[in-house]
Amino acid sequence: MNKKITKICCIGAGYVGGPTMAVIAQKCPHIKVTVVDLNEARIAAWNDPDTENIPVYEPGLSAVVAEARGRNLFFSTEVDKAIDEAEMIFISVNTPTKTYGSGKGMAADLKYIELCARQIARVAKDDKIVVEKSTLPVRTAEAVKNILQNTGNGVNYQILSNPEFLAEGTAVEDLHAPDRVLIGGDTTPEGQSALASLVEVYNNWVPRERILTTNLWSSELSKLTANAFLAQRVSSINALSELCERTGADVTEVARSIGTDSRIGSKFLKASVGFGGSCFQKDILNLVYIARSYGLQEVADYWEQVIIMNDHQKSRFANNIVKTLYNTVSGKKIAFLGWAFKKDTNDTRESAAIYVADALLNEEAGIAVYDPKVPESQVYFDLNYLGSRDADKNKTQVTVFTDPYEACKDAHAIAILTEWDEFKAYDWKRIFDNMKKPAFVFDGRSIIDSASLTEIGFKVYTIGK
Ligand code: NAD
Ligand code: UDX
Repeated sequence: MNKKITKICCIGAGYVGGPTMAVIAQKCPHIKVTVVDLNEARIAAWNDPDTENIPVYEPGLSAVVAEARGRNLFFSTEVDKAIDEAEMIFISVNTPTKTYGSGKGMAADLKYIELCARQIARVAKDDKIVVEKSTLPVRTAEAVKNILQNTGNGVNYQILSNPEFLAEGTAVEDLHAPDRVLIGGDTTPEGQSALASLVEVYNNWVPRERILTTNLWSSELSKLTANAFLAQRVSSINALSELCERTGADVTEVARSIGTDSRIGSKFLKASVGFGGSCFQKDILNLVYIARSYGLQEVADYWEQVIIMNDHQKSRFANNIVKTLYNTVSGKKIAFLGWAFKKDTNDTRESAAIYVADALLNEEAGIAVYDPKVPESQVYFDLNYLGSRDADKNKTQVTVFTDPYEACKDAHAIAILTEWDEFKAYDWKRIFDNMKKPAFVFDGRSIIDSASLTEIGFKVYTIGK
């Protein structure tokens, strides 16, 4: 008989921990769910009486939090207390690319994972099921188990891998109706019993046939692989977008033509200025690193090409702006519509906008940014974090606006970096009338009808056309 879970703790209240636990709490009112984080400001924001101010913007999320918070969903900085109380502990902390030491720039930095394992080992007094929710290199569970078993107080631990497949911008939808939930566990009877406990939690709203169970290593590796396959499709269509631009083919038409083949499918074939987000690049680099560390050079080179293509797409978009604006953007104003890495999120990690901006700032352009959900402080943080120039210079060259029409006023060109729906509804004639002439639009998301912009008088470049 598996244990019936009544108390869950989740370490890490970020883009995964917050929404995932909010939905578990919403769908399982009989389970007390406590989400803990070291970041006090983040926890305070999750506890803001006005749920519109929670730190993660996702359509539908504030309503889920409003329903469950205070009932069976809690956000706290008291990590030890939450670990002690819980029967099941999710680890949902960040696993960024290493910025130091061996594997720098490639491997996942597992220091936050190790800290969590050590903290659980220190605090736990009774048996715990520890669930890896973070995306981890294959065989990480072995290290987690080692730490728990060798530094703990004789407590029994079961480790499960339960990677998260939600995409930002559609997180609530994805969590409510996932294509699948993946749970990996040990093949021992104890491992299978822990696995059954987690299956039971999800089965409160996810049909049993959508809950896949595997061994630990298959589960860990499947997550990296799923992201690599998705990113590979974006790089494939982006590679074709460049060829389309040279040959007169239209990438949207090509994508439709190939995507209607049911073996290929139509999703993830949208050419863009390049994929961003906290996952794709990090996870592929990690996959490449793992393959190399097993001596699998061809496997590593194959996947690395997905990243090389993505970097090329971002820099060729920026180069095209410079070339089109008569080979100089020095002192010119370029308006950026969008800074987030995709629509319907306030997340900017690895957003293509940051890299396009950086390239144009190197050419001494002035940049005016408007994004409906990204605050000014985040734009400066992203550019300063890149470290190409000092913060004062970023502040002089970049201005952030809360009104798109003001951002575009007197600009020589507009670059569309995020596919926010609201951009389509703008009064483009009004925007055109207030810009320098000739006025250019560089549509990196192929969202605005180029014929209507051309009719107004814009010179339009659309990715892949
Ligand atoms: P995030 O940076 O938004 O959140 C991680 C949180 O963990 C931070 O708030 C940080 O303060 C906290 N934290 C770190 N160490 C801690 C500790 N020792 N104790 C308490 N709190 C601690 O990251 P995220 O986007 O939520 O991603 C988390 C994991 O999920 C990563 O492994 C990521 O690859 C994976 N993932 C992310 C997504 C996504 O869309 N963002 C999707 C699937 C999987
Ligand atoms: C991704 C995976 O989709 C998700 O399953 C995983 O859990 C986390 O990583 P996310 O990064 O949040 O999710 O968003 P996603 O929709 O995958 O988009 C990633 C990037 O690819 C975005 O910059 C998006 O604009 C870009 N993209 C996506 C394209 O350029 N073209 C496409 O056709 C699809």
